[in-house]
Amino acid sequence: MKFLIDGPTPLNGSISVAGAKNEALKLFAAALLVDAPVTIHRVPEIEDVQRMAEMVAALGARVAHTGDAYTIDPTSLAHAVLPADLMARIRAGLVLLGPLLHRFGEVILPLPGGDSIGRRPIDFFIRGFRAFGAEVIEEPERIIFRAHHLAATRFVFPLVSVTGTEALLLLAVRVSGTTIIENAAREPEVAALGEFLRSCGAVIDGVGTSTLTIRGVDRLRGGEVTCIPDRIETGTFAAFVAACGGELEIRDCAPALVSAPLAILTEMGMSVERDDAAGVLRIARDTPLRAVSFQTDGYPGVPTDLQPPLTIAQTQAEGLALVHETIFEGRLFYIDRLLKMGAQAILCDPHRCVISGPRVLHGTTLESPDIRAGMALLIAAAAAHGHSTIDNVYQIDRGFARIDERLRAIGVQITRTEE
Ligand code: EPU
Repeated sequence: MKFLIDGPTPLNGSISVAGAKNEALKLFAAALLVDAPVTIHRVPEIEDVQRMAEMVAALGARVAHTGDAYTIDPTSLAHAVLPADLMARIRAGLVLLGPLLHRFGEVILPLPGGDSIGRRPIDFFIRGFRAFGAEVIEEPERIIFRAHHLAATRFVFPLVSVTGTEALLLLAVRVSGTTIIENAAREPEVAALGEFLRSCGAVIDGVGTSTLTIRGVDRLRGGEVTCIPDRIETGTFAAFVAACGGELEIRDCAPALVSAPLAILTEMGMSVERDDAAGVLRIARDTPLRAVSFQTDGYPGVPTDLQPPLTIAQTQAEGLALVHETIFEGRLFYIDRLLKMGAQAILCDPHRCVISGPRVLHGTTLESPDIRAGMALLIAAAAAHGHSTIDNVYQIDRGFARIDERLRAIGVQITRTEE
């Protein structure tokens, strides 16, 4: 499948933000930990969610889907062999480890996949599960996690890890005793998972902070939960306006969750009006932009997932911007595609690049390498003069629901072809 894009097209109108992908995926795992059905509302209609739903269904859970809600009934779970084909596509499947270990005492994990954004090691998961007393047997193609007896522990993450924190949280809530997780990820999606578990009866202190104190309980109730607004979608749409011009109302969002990226856009000269109570942002490009250097960080810093769209915005700004990607080493490799479009950029090393602007971009044929770089190239194509084709749009569909349809409504000339 391909996207055909004609540019340049300034944005105009209003767009609604979907529920957070990186919360929704983890809630499917949380549902396997409780003893009754769980209904998740405001689930984004994206490929990664479908893969996760297929994964829990393949494990035997009953999954019902109506509108933007999924109901997961874990009582029919049948086994704990994670399907290799699905794990190869979606790394978030790692968060299923804890719930499955509790239910079956043994989990078979084929080596996981995910993005092409660099090394994606799983050593924190292995060390974390071992700290709880699980036996972890590493084989060439798979890893076996076995639990004879799990005991509460203190685990300090050497580096902040989002899925790592979530995986240990999803294990600790049902391990008797008091577990302390230090240097935990503070991302809003991690906090939302913690809040949901609390609503099911888990005892967790420090939700949203870097120290989580968890007192294990025997049982968790089912319940209902609504995903928070996707902050990465919000920031992506805001950066889209910086790259393409025009003005956009971004609805159903939580502006407070994107304060750091909005500060960069404001410093660049974008007009940013926020109404936190209404969940609305109004973004406009009224003046020429200034280049602003930035670096990615864990929350509340600039998320690595927003680095690619914010970098595209720098190509349209006056001056030099140093972009420092601190989290993943493969997240700047789309820069060579930008050069092909006429951008002036130097990749200094896998973590840093310098963009010099403003430059007129030209349409070309592009391939989407991962969700975020794919979306960034889509933005570059919409800002570029002429016609572009983006191949491998599955990668964009993994994280953005019906993106072509939604972008057409705000002025982007984009069509999807089935070839
Ligand atoms: N790391 C290790 N060992 C591990 C795990 C992580 O060294 O066992 C390192 C990573 O290599 C990286 C750093 O720790 O350098 C942080 O990675 P993290 O574990 O936080 O990433 P993740 O949990 O695999 C999640 C999101 C990503 C997002 C990152 C950073 C999900 C499903 N994925 O990944 O989202 O970029 O956190 O915020 O929640 C996306 O949505 O496109 C996406 C890739």
